Amino acid sequence: MAIVKYTEKVIEHFKNPRNVGEIENPDGAATVGSPACGDQVSVFLKVNNDRIEDIKFLSYGCASNIATGSIVTEMAKGKSIEEAKKLTWKQAMEELGGLPPIKFHCSVLAVDGLRAAIKDYEERKLGKKYEESVNEEYILEKLKEIIYPKTGNNIVDAQLIRYMKFEDGKLTIEMSFEETDEFKQNVLEEIKEHISEIKEVKEIDIKVMEY
Ligand code: FES
Repeated sequence: MAIVKYTEKVIEHFKNPRNVGEIENPDGAATVGSPACGDQVSVFLKVNNDRIEDIKFLSYGCASNIATGSIVTEMAKGKSIEEAKKLTWKQAMEELGGLPPIKFHCSVLAVDGLRAAIKDYEERKLGKKYEESVNEEYILEKLKEIIYPKTGNNIVDAQLIRYMKFEDGKLTIEMSFEETDEFKQNVLEEIKEHISEIKEVKEIDIKVMEY
């Protein structure tokens, strides 16, 4: 089995994670899971004057999940809600000095946890309603959560999707991969898992072209 190499900063945050724990009576909280590996992270927020006054997390994941949870909470602490919403998994990863491609999704999970806790805060405390209508644009945004380890960006920006149509509950996707692409199966499985969370999609047909 290949050895996964981590930066010193990842190891340091894994060994001494910051902001671990729960917040009693949080203003926002969420638990999210990674479709890529099944691991989970919980994020808790205390918000004061539109700023994240305190933030804690609990990880049910791997070393990278703990390290990214630690760095994301450090980066978000003291930021305004709008600033925190703009934090990306790439920034978190860069702050750690990088992650092995096979671990990119761990950083995505930590940022997803932060965003879900902010969403919970906005719904609970500000009464915001997030109405999401399921259409091709919405599905494309969902697919953008899937990272293509070979290029380090999401599968939409990596131009793996050639065609997509959503009609009468049926989703058709055409994709192209290099014949020897070692990540193809992973990507296809992640797509199925992501799409299975959208109850409006009753049927999915993925066609794969190889070149
Ligand atoms: Fe699951 Fe890292 S492998 S979060």
